[in-house]
Amino acid sequence: MIDLHSHILPFIDDGAPNMAVSLEMAGQYVANGFRRVVATPHVQPEDIGDQWAQSLKSRVAEMNRSLRDGSIPLVISAGMEIAIAPELPERLDAGLLLPLADSRYVLIETPFERLPVGWEHIFFQIAGRGYRVLLGHPERCTQLARNHTLFERLIDIGVYFQVNWGSFTGFYGRLALKTARLLAHKGYIHCLATDSHDRSDRSADVVGKAIPDIEALIGAANLDLLSKGNPSRVFADQPMEPMSSPPALRNVKRRWKRWLFRQS
Ligand SMILES: [Fe+2]
Repeated sequence: MIDLHSHILPFIDDGAPNMAVSLEMAGQYVANGFRRVVATPHVQPEDIGDQWAQSLKSRVAEMNRSLRDGSIPLVISAGMEIAIAPELPERLDAGLLLPLADSRYVLIETPFERLPVGWEHIFFQIAGRGYRVLLGHPERCTQLARNHTLFERLIDIGVYFQVNWGSFTGFYGRLALKTARLLAHKGYIHCLATDSHDRSDRSADVVGKAIPDIEALIGAANLDLLSKGNPSRVFADQPMEPMSSPPALRNVKRRWKRWLFRQS
């Protein structure tokens, strides 16, 4: 599998505090079936410095050397988790912000409360420059979770959705769980990612805990698409494909709908 969203790099943000923890997290990735991870530290476009992108690539190279030295079969690529801000398009133009793994996909962080005023204009500007917007954990944004028509609007304008594995285990709370299931039900998820920050609750071990529920909900073929097929398309810089509606999902729709809305 490939993880497109991870805070595995040491010393940068609220992820791994040192290389020893980074290497333990790498071991967890391998144990859970991953072979590639994109390191995506948090960045604020308005604060980013001229040397950030180059420094990040150097740290990725250093980590890959450590992985080879430790015979850990995992390869890290560079990326960023970019906070949505008016400065984002021009900072992309200036080469200060890194898309995922040298592709044209830009991982944009959803604010936890609400999207900023002017978000649609920002996304249009990014798309107009030839980039693809991958929205990180939209199920964790309260405004979106409470106003589902915004999901439709985002899908309509070509935004891709990355949902966290942990949202399906309830780690981020009841609303995120319910919203992740809603997105799965609607077929609006394009890829799953761990958003790993540490060795415990927010690690690649979440995958083993989440797989049974997700597979029961969307079927094995969709699970394969979201965890392998579409992340591979990001590396190939190809458009991600939408989920299909498998027989399992169609069969449970009515029962599942009753369950879902009973939770509200
Ligand atoms: Fe993140």
